[in-house]
Amino acid sequence: MSPVSIAIENDIAVITIDNPPINATSHAVRKGIWDAIELIDRDDAIRAAILSCAGRTFIAGADVTEFGKPPLDPILPDLIIRMEQATKPIIATIHGTALGGGLEVALGCHYRVASETAKLGLPEVNLGLIPGAGGTVRLPRLIPVAEAITMITSGKPITASKAHDIGLIDKIAQDDLLSTAKTLAVQIKDAPCPVALMNRAPVKAPDDTAWDGIIGGVTKKARGQDAPIVAVNTIRGSITSNAKTALATERENFVRLRDSDQSKALRHIFFAERSVAKLPELKEVDPHPIRIVGVIGGGIMGAGIATAALLAGYAVVMIERDDAACDRGLETIKHHLSGSLKRGLLNQEKYDRLLGDFMGSTDYAALSDADLVIEAVFEDMSVKHDVFGQLSRHCKPTAVLASNTSYLDINAIADMCTHPGRVIGLHFFSPAHIMKLLEVVRTAKADAKSLATAFAFAKRLGKIAVPTGVCDGFIGNRIMSAYRKHCEYMLEDGALPHDIDRAMVTFGFPMGLFAMQDMAGLEISWATRKRLAPTRDPKERYVALGDYLCEMGRLGKKNGLGWYRYDANGKAETDPVVDELVISESLKKGITRRIFTDAEIIKTILRAMQTEGDKILSEGIATSPDAIDVVMINGYGFPRHKGSPMFMRKTG
Ligand code: NAI
Repeated sequence: MSPVSIAIENDIAVITIDNPPINATSHAVRKGIWDAIELIDRDDAIRAAILSCAGRTFIAGADVTEFGKPPLDPILPDLIIRMEQATKPIIATIHGTALGGGLEVALGCHYRVASETAKLGLPEVNLGLIPGAGGTVRLPRLIPVAEAITMITSGKPITASKAHDIGLIDKIAQDDLLSTAKTLAVQIKDAPCPVALMNRAPVKAPDDTAWDGIIGGVTKKARGQDAPIVAVNTIRGSITSNAKTALATERENFVRLRDSDQSKALRHIFFAERSVAKLPELKEVDPHPIRIVGVIGGGIMGAGIATAALLAGYAVVMIERDDAACDRGLETIKHHLSGSLKRGLLNQEKYDRLLGDFMGSTDYAALSDADLVIEAVFEDMSVKHDVFGQLSRHCKPTAVLASNTSYLDINAIADMCTHPGRVIGLHFFSPAHIMKLLEVVRTAKADAKSLATAFAFAKRLGKIAVPTGVCDGFIGNRIMSAYRKHCEYMLEDGALPHDIDRAMVTFGFPMGLFAMQDMAGLEISWATRKRLAPTRDPKERYVALGDYLCEMGRLGKKNGLGWYRYDANGKAETDPVVDELVISESLKKGITRRIFTDAEIIKTILRAMQTEGDKILSEGIATSPDAIDVVMINGYGFPRHKGSPMFMRKTG
């Protein structure tokens, strides 16, 4: 049966697409719409048509199962031209999201009506592509060119209200979307069809002198990614040529990008992120329901985790050591939520309701009804032992108990609990309410239900959950320790901290390793090194530069001195004191310093990541190379368009 049906009410045809889950533009959908338009054009009794979607969304993208296969007619660009040429006006009714090909279909319609909560976007750049079905040609002929450039080069969807402001949609439905569209259909059915977007002039086209600045701005933001730059140039070409030539150029550029390494890398990580949390052994396992989340510790991580849980709709009980610490935790949560309020992600009513769902306490008995408890106290095994002892006593037997430890042995923590099967790790990344990554640590005795609960919780928080086994640093911090060691070797062998950071930033990291360490604070890794000192192989090469800095009181950005020195505005400068320290250490060890090129630095870092990645895989800590890639990209700033270490090796 066709996923596209048509119902005729008086002289209005309603075309409905029903292709769950996202009403993707599969071949059957394209053919169904094509046939519907043919029928509508032939039937003189029909005066206008409405294109709507069943289920939770308008067309939210392409059918991924058709990727890489030869396209079947009608292909999307042809279908949209056919829609545009229909002799009766078509109104797109948009609810949920109109993304990619979905928005391009809506642009082929003559009017667009959206529900208040709808989102509209052309996210192709996130896959290293540009729109391939007329988006770069029609959008700048409907909304101001500058707005079209922002939408296409950023890939970020916009709200219905913004879409209305810039002219992308004609009407926002205050109540029922279909009845709003029907009312509009009655109003416009006797008027001539509006001129097809293809045949219109661009809206507010920038003058010639503005383009260098526009392209420069996009190039800077693209940080080495090709698609946004191709997109802006395609738009520029599109508005200065006729639409037919513009469509052909768009197609050419789309196909070229689709075959590029960057697009392959971005598509790889897109699918990896969506599959990494799917463990076959948990497929049939129902998670425990979660209503109340306990958080122990209201410091940096505890307050961030509590904020994330509140935003996801959970009630939160936070336990701290004393009332003052409890108050500080609440203040941090308020600060985070105010940020969401300011950015328009929350309204005042929701802000108040979320705070009403929060309770702070110094008494573990307040956790008696908690379904999941996440510990985020000091990184000290004896403190963690005390906390889990309290949790064993006060929590109900089905409550899942999680630790946010960065490095400590969660198996040992589980073993001192009354029910080790329900103890797992939930390793968040800072700031916990913003960072997408969450490592779900599978302890040796973790039961399937507790793990399924953890993954369900992560999903509700909107996190990308990556399963990991127990080891020092899990997947991410363990790989970071490995490549940090090699960066430190390079310091002794001839590079300076800013050489390594520059090479990393040029490669596409948002910041270099040493600047990142300064930001996190140097004392954290210092404490880890001291903890591991007794078990370190005395024959292993050890670089003490980080220890010297800490001993000199240079603890990072927060006290103005670390691997760099910081001016009053927090801007980093290279510090000759550090350069001298590095050079004199090489001298002391009798090492002849040499020059490292950027390429050599990156090669060394990549090799260190890959070697440690292989070890992690052979020990069963990571379930697949993809899991490692997802962690490095979402937690450590590895440039997404490069495909990440394990993928890069696979593709050469
Ligand atoms: P923090 O020092 O900011 O906060 C720790 C909080 O725990 C303090 O507010 C303290 O009063 C409270 N606390 C200590 N003992 C307690 C007890 N017995 N009962 C209740 N509350 C207690 O530390 P941060 O940075 O939030 O780290 C917490 C945990 O998260 C550590 O295990 C750390 O390794 C881990 N982590 C830290 C990350 C970071 O970027 N800071 C990232 C990922 C994990």
